[in-house]
Amino acid sequence: MTVVACLPGDGIGPEVLEQAVRVLEQLPVDVEIARLPFGGAAIDELGEPLPDSTLAACRESGAVLLGAVGGPRWEGGAIRPEAGLLALRKHLDVYANLRPATHAGIDLLVVRELVGGLYFGARGTRADGTVFDTCEYTPAQVERIARRAFELARTRSGKLLSVDKANVLETSRLWREVVTWLGRTEYPEIELRHGLVDSVAMWLVMHPEEFDVLVMENTFGDILSDVAAGVTGGLGLASSASLGDSGPGIFEPVHGSAPDIAGTGKANPTGMLRSLALALEHGLNEPALAQSVRAAVDAALEKAPTPDVGGTATTREFGDAVMAALEVPVERGGGL
Ligand code: NAD
Ligand code: IPM
Ligand code: MN
Repeated sequence: MTVVACLPGDGIGPEVLEQAVRVLEQLPVDVEIARLPFGGAAIDELGEPLPDSTLAACRESGAVLLGAVGGPRWEGGAIRPEAGLLALRKHLDVYANLRPATHAGIDLLVVRELVGGLYFGARGTRADGTVFDTCEYTPAQVERIARRAFELARTRSGKLLSVDKANVLETSRLWREVVTWLGRTEYPEIELRHGLVDSVAMWLVMHPEEFDVLVMENTFGDILSDVAAGVTGGLGLASSASLGDSGPGIFEPVHGSAPDIAGTGKANPTGMLRSLALALEHGLNEPALAQSVRAAVDAALEKAPTPDVGGTATTREFGDAVMAALEVPVERGGGL
């Protein structure tokens, strides 16, 4: 039996994850749910955001479902909940973060490099008080994420936009060089274009329907994926899959712990539920069930929208609507 590691985390994390677990338990799939302490909750309980036992269980799992981490409660502390998330991504080497954004004529995919760049470069404080973070990339790090993006572009429209800041940054010049070389040598049939991150951000806001697959480094991807979520209806809707070359992926919504609405029942679990669909597709080899979950979520968005998308349903009522709309493929229907 495959274990699905469930890391609720903080704020609305547990609230949205619970809906994904309810839906997963209703599906005809042979999985065991393991709930594990993570983030601020794990700092409170065990003194660290990614306890060894949680990491070990994630490594053994078929997929990791993650709510969200962080919140004002842990700000200024010796160790932040977010450090646990970054460590988990690094340990599992999930370098390819897929962040789809779809809505009324928009169907784009942000492919974000997830384990390099500013987030993981040298950092510190010099004697004169200067504080620094550094953006670092090796050619191999760029090559593997670029290859993943070319492969994804091949399954879609055959077009790839690589986003950088090559007019200013050395790492971006390396990025552009490696992506161009890979395109020329291995993917000549893919139409590759390059864009500078600032103007791409503007164009994404004004003409999101013109985009398909975009690939970029870690920090640019963090920011542009929130922009992409914004133009498709908000952070509550956006999902992600973080994948390596082997081992389990991490499936988590793009949003954070939303401390402003935590505990009020207002959280939209769509991003989490769509991340469950990505887990079924990329982690549990159940693409048909992934499609069923997506369709049920779309139906629930019509029938029982949460306040962020103009409705009044609570998080749990939205989960109820998804479960009511869920139709599993006939050949797999015996388990219900
Ligand atoms: P956030 O994504 O938590 O919230 C931004 C805004 O979007 C808030 O107004 C919030 O109410 C709203 N929102 C987010 N998700 C929603 C949902 N599912 N339904 C309805 N509304 C939703 O970003 P923030 O406020 O900048 O960050 C809060 C904390 O979350 C910080 O500690 C940050 O580090 C952390 N964070 C964690 C993750 C993660 O765990 N992957 C991602 C982003 C931010
Ligand atoms: C995200 C989040 C994280 C990131 C934080 C919480 C470390 O914003 O998943 O987008 O910046 O990667
Ligand atoms: Mn983010």
